[in-house]
Amino acid sequence: MASFGKVIRKNSLNAFSRVVLRRDFTRGRHSLGLVYGEYGDPGTVLKLEEIPVAEDLKDDEIEVDMLCAPVNPSDMNQIQGTYPFKSELPAVGGNEGVGLVRRCGLRVTGMKEGDWVIPILPGVGTWRSTLISNCNKFLKVSSSTGLDFAATLQVNPPTAYRMLKDFVSLQPGDTLIQNGANSGVGQAVIQLAAAWDISTINVVRTRPDSSDFDVINYLKELGATEVVTEEFLHSHKMKELIKGYSRPALGLNCVGGDSSTGVAKLLKEKGTLITYGGMSRKPVTIATSLFIFKQLTCIGYWNGLWLTNNITNNRALIEDMFHDLCTLGEKGLLRAPRSTKHELINYKNAINESMKPFVSSKQLLMIKN
Ligand SMILES: NC(=O)c1ccc[n+]([C@@H]2O[C@H](COP(=O)([O-])OP(=O)(O)OC[C@H]3O[C@@H](n4cnc5c(N)ncnc54)[C@H](OP(=O)(O)O)[C@@H]3O)[C@@H](O)[C@H]2O)c1
Repeated sequence: MASFGKVIRKNSLNAFSRVVLRRDFTRGRHSLGLVYGEYGDPGTVLKLEEIPVAEDLKDDEIEVDMLCAPVNPSDMNQIQGTYPFKSELPAVGGNEGVGLVRRCGLRVTGMKEGDWVIPILPGVGTWRSTLISNCNKFLKVSSSTGLDFAATLQVNPPTAYRMLKDFVSLQPGDTLIQNGANSGVGQAVIQLAAAWDISTINVVRTRPDSSDFDVINYLKELGATEVVTEEFLHSHKMKELIKGYSRPALGLNCVGGDSSTGVAKLLKEKGTLITYGGMSRKPVTIATSLFIFKQLTCIGYWNGLWLTNNITNNRALIEDMFHDLCTLGEKGLLRAPRSTKHELINYKNAINESMKPFVSSKQLLMIKN
């Protein structure tokens, strides 16, 4: 299996080496990171390794100490080799997170030592203590919204933001419906919609341990208008509930299978269903009649592609979006998802928890604390 260097075992790390850049004068500088040298089960192929860090910075580069990074479903798919975006192996895991600028190259403007930054595009490899990158691949963010918010700002809130803004012209008083509503994206959708006065009908999976109540209450507290279970979605009671709202013009689907069928059925004429995830691993199934008689539009959205398409020629659009999201965060209208924190050394727990059903908590790697 390809690797960058020495594999670090849990009991060989002391508190010092856990958090700082290591300098071995015979071998240069190293950061610590979660590396995979082959595709496979993340719990097996990920190893904590020393990763070489260059001594010198190019003029347009920054050196970043990563502070905190989440474990997202797409990170897992990337390591499994099933994601369309593939890094050259060996690769460092993680695509999102927040870091602290430690050094800047001579031509870096708009960023300085001590600033908080987030990567704009996927593929940076955020699960490591230190990285060097071209400064244009990062965006400065305020630390006032807190560590969890900044660490989870780059993927899910923009996905929710673009899906609410770019496909259907939603007006205050309109309604949308989504499944996987307790996911990170779902939580962002609920909060953005509440801030923009759009009603949300939210579908979650029925919990096996009767903790539906907890999830329902949590999402309502975030601003969800209605929260129902998948069971309810497919019952006659759903038809009654939907009558109390303007018929949804927008449906958001990250589940597929029966869940997408149920969501699509409730959309208004000429409504739009956006699929952005496939957590059930089942195909999206839509009744033929919805296409013919209701003129339904079914479309997909991929935030990584949107960012890639806009980073060069439309950076202001990206910056404006993150500015809006941070302003909402500062006003308390957009919060980070519920989370569980793990030291980098305990990464296996984070990985395992992230792949379990019904956890309702984002796993965060605390890299430098
Ligand atoms: N297209 C894009 O640009 C984009 C961007 C961000 C995310 N995504 C995708 O959106 C989805 C959610 O991502 P996230 O980071 O928000 O997720 P997350 O916070 O980790 O939450 C995962 C969600 O998936 C649900 N889930 C897990 N297994 C399921 C199954 N077998 N059937 C139905 N639901 C299941 C979970 O529900 P329970 O609590 O019931 O287990 C939970 O709601 C993922 O598919 C991700 O890849 C896409």
